[in-house]
Amino acid sequence: MDEGLRILVADASLPVREMIKGALVGEPKLQVVAEAADGRQAIDQALEIRPDVVFLDARLPKVDGLSAAEEILRHVSSDIVLLFSEEDRRLLRRAMQVGARDFLLKPFSQEELLSSVRDLFHQGALKKIYERGSQEGEVLTVFSTKGGVGKTTIASNLAAYLGERTQKRVLLLDLDLEFGSSAALLGLKPSTSIVDLCRGDGPIKPELLEKVILPTGQKNLFLLPAPPTPDLAAEVEGDGRRQRERNYVAEIISLAKSSFSHVVIDTASNFRETNLTALDRSAAVLLVTTPDIPTLQNTAKALDIMLQKLEYQPSRIRLILNRSDGAVGLTFEDISKGLAFPISYYVPSDGPTVIWAANFGQPFVLRRSRTAISRSIINIVEHLLNPASTVRVPSQKKERGWWTGFLRPLTNGRER
Ligand SMILES: Nc1ncnc2c1ncn2[C@@H]1O[C@H](COP(=O)(O)OP(=O)(O)OP(=O)(O)O)[C@@H](O)[C@H]1O
Ligand SMILES: [Mg+2]
Repeated sequence: MDEGLRILVADASLPVREMIKGALVGEPKLQVVAEAADGRQAIDQALEIRPDVVFLDARLPKVDGLSAAEEILRHVSSDIVLLFSEEDRRLLRRAMQVGARDFLLKPFSQEELLSSVRDLFHQGALKKIYERGSQEGEVLTVFSTKGGVGKTTIASNLAAYLGERTQKRVLLLDLDLEFGSSAALLGLKPSTSIVDLCRGDGPIKPELLEKVILPTGQKNLFLLPAPPTPDLAAEVEGDGRRQRERNYVAEIISLAKSSFSHVVIDTASNFRETNLTALDRSAAVLLVTTPDIPTLQNTAKALDIMLQKLEYQPSRIRLILNRSDGAVGLTFEDISKGLAFPISYYVPSDGPTVIWAANFGQPFVLRRSRTAISRSIINIVEHLLNPASTVRVPSQKKERGWWTGFLRPLTNGRER
């Protein structure tokens, strides 16, 4: 669609044709390539030049607009915008059946015309993006079985930086279905949510996904928000739904992969079906933990389940030690040994930056990119994109506390 939309204008009135051409003159991606003054000419031109869009008056001489539309659509997949006047309203039903994509009531303003054609442009570009489905987008799930360890903070900043770094579309998918906070963290008040995708009977259409996702104000970053209230989570998960066997989350992830280069999933802290669906489909599971004994004990259990019960390859799991500078009395080596699992990435504590970002609805990684916490997120993204790059390990005082003993019985017999 880079070359723009090629447009045919078919109307018996020269002033109307001139008006449409005039309105599109300043639009670099919209180009009027032909005109027609009657229905016969419109069909001939359309078949010859195969335009992307045809503005077609309902009352064309020789062959009327609707018959012309029918004939054109039999041979060419143009988008037809039907121009009609008040007395032609009765034709609209048939026009829809014929397959007209849009309608403009005469006299229309320049703004109305542009808005119609921009919509078509957007849909056309979209169609191509989905059809291309070129590179299968990569799914990264940010997960923990302990709440409040920093999943949402890390997921939203990772996604924001991925969009900036790759210059490709990234989707942040909030699967914390009951208490998702990704929208709040990005300063958004969504009027749509994932629930809107889980109500139809047929397969979820790309157009619907595009309508439900939200631009975030950050370049290339889109959000699919969690439901607005916790009770609606059941509609996504399937409790009490008509078609229980349907896994909406699986469908959404698969659809998102076809049009986003990365799908970053924020999760709730559990091993229920929704999370399992996401984890199973992830190129990497970013397991977030913090350096305190209760969280580490919990993380050890999560690792046991993923490695032993779910049989995930260890290389798919990347352990992120959040608030790594708070590892008082524990060395990184102690933690890694205790969990029988290596730490992949380190994120330091930075209350002021994290709270500033949350209160201003901004990803700190883009707005405070020089802070240590932002650099740690950037380091994670760089490493995910290029595993040969180095991961920064923060320096640490080698002090040992008596409580390191608690770490020993953490694993369920797993060896490192
Ligand atoms: N590195 C950090 N430095 C300072 N504060 C942090 C850091 N990471 C997270 N926080 C703070 O910890 C709290 C929990 O973070 P967050 O909401 O990201 O965790 P979560 O794992 O998504 O929680 P939940 O399980 O409730 O979804 C927030 O108040 C957040 O600002
Ligand atoms: Mg969260």
